[in-house]
Amino acid sequence: MTWQASAPSNIALIKYMGKIGTGNVSSNASLSYTLNHLKTFVEIQTHNSVQDIWEPLALAGQPTPPISQKGQERFLKHFSLLKEKLNLKGSFTVRSNNNFPSDCGLASSASSFAALTLTAYQVAKEQNPQIDLTLTALADLSRQGSGSSCRSLFSPWSIWDVRGARDVDLPYKDLIHQVVVISDQIKAVSSSEAHKKISTSLLASERTGRAERRLQDLLLAIKNEDWKKSYELIWADFWDMHALFETSAPPFGYMSAGSLKVLRIAQQTWESENDGPWITMDAGPNVHLLYRRDQRDLAQRLQTEISSHFRVLTNL
Ligand code: DP6
Repeated sequence: MTWQASAPSNIALIKYMGKIGTGNVSSNASLSYTLNHLKTFVEIQTHNSVQDIWEPLALAGQPTPPISQKGQERFLKHFSLLKEKLNLKGSFTVRSNNNFPSDCGLASSASSFAALTLTAYQVAKEQNPQIDLTLTALADLSRQGSGSSCRSLFSPWSIWDVRGARDVDLPYKDLIHQVVVISDQIKAVSSSEAHKKISTSLLASERTGRAERRLQDLLLAIKNEDWKKSYELIWADFWDMHALFETSAPPFGYMSAGSLKVLRIAQQTWESENDGPWITMDAGPNVHLLYRRDQRDLAQRLQTEISSHFRVLTNL
């Protein structure tokens, strides 16, 4: 038998950075916008051998790139946790693939762990029709595979705090997204390692409070449709996270000359027009830009300018 599900990626506007104890418990609340055009598809199939295995999933129009040995182990480790928690019987082939290029250095852990969790739940429903978990309970399971994945179960806005992950009703439900691919190299420091390393920064102990305050301010700004105030808070939060990286002992970082070039191009529209995209970066060199639908022309203009230097993936 075969079961399938998919899940989107998400971009955090208030970042999850820093963990408490085990199981990817975040030391601060985070808020994300769901990227429904960047998805992972997962298929689970019963098989006869004892061990679960991973294979690339064939998707129309997509190559079938292998994931690293380490990546496969992490994925299957989460699958065994899901098997235990959802009481799944049997051995399985787990297949996965993304509808976005795997060679562009885009984080796929959020979409892939969320998709794996949702597909395992399909298996559980087949094997035990009584099972009835809420999306927040499933998000809690997904979080244990990769923290940011718990936000991918909700759309378009998702909040993750001590109560778990859930959707939040906010305006700007249909944003234009561009991710500028500055580098497709594997990161020297993964985001999972970054969560640990930043505890050596003197700025880390106050991070929880800063993120919380910024989150409350951002929720209010978005509710009031104050695009500029939201931009300022989103800008401040990704720099706050990158400052944690650069003030760790030893310091590490992801910002490259290319990232700065794109940040300045996007920032200039704010200077010249008092309007522009929301700008953010994850634990990597790529730059994410979000626009309101009425900023389509601006998005198109920036896309043309930036595309002469870098690859841009978009839902424009
Ligand atoms: C910078 O979810 O990748 O993207 O829980 O160890 O899998 P693990 O970490 P991960 O961390 C993502 C960090 C971030 C910010 C965010 O998405 O909130």
